[in-house]
Amino acid sequence: MIKKIIILSAILSIFMAFTGRGTNVFGETSGDNYKLYCAQCHGLKGNGSGVNKADMSVAPRNHTDTIEMSRLKDSDIYEAIAHGGTAVGKSTLMPPWNGVMTDAEIKEMVAYLRELCHCKGE
Ligand code: HEC
Repeated sequence: MIKKIIILSAILSIFMAFTGRGTNVFGETSGDNYKLYCAQCHGLKGNGSGVNKADMSVAPRNHTDTIEMSRLKDSDIYEAIAHGGTAVGKSTLMPPWNGVMTDAEIKEMVAYLRELCHCKGE
């Protein structure tokens, strides 16, 4: 019983340590959030080769591709991140993140993707 309480309070304090850090629930920066939420598919460097890629019928977008990413408006990127691939006529394999990240975090993520591609929207 005591052991259970110790484990439970340890989990709780880890949880509280994370949630107490500003607006982002888990990541401090967009780069942190990208590693946590996006890298599994889009790759740690954003080049579209995350660990899941091999098993996916639609390849994750290469966020470092300047030409492809230039074709997307900031609002398209925002929509894709917030509401998932289907919101922009793309694959359901791209999940929606509006329940995970705040509006501000999604906007920061759009800016982060612009850094990765070294590009602007049309
Ligand atoms: C489970 C895998 C997976 C995860 C996790 C994931 N994505 Fe994607 N994402 C995809 C796939 C697959 C596509 C390509 C969809 C297509 O081309 O039909 C995509 C496409 C995109 C696009 C391009 C949409 C377009 O209009 O071309 C953006 C932007 C994007 N993802 C951002 C993100 C961000 C930011 C995260 C993390 C918050 C993320 N993705 C997490 C799988 C994933």
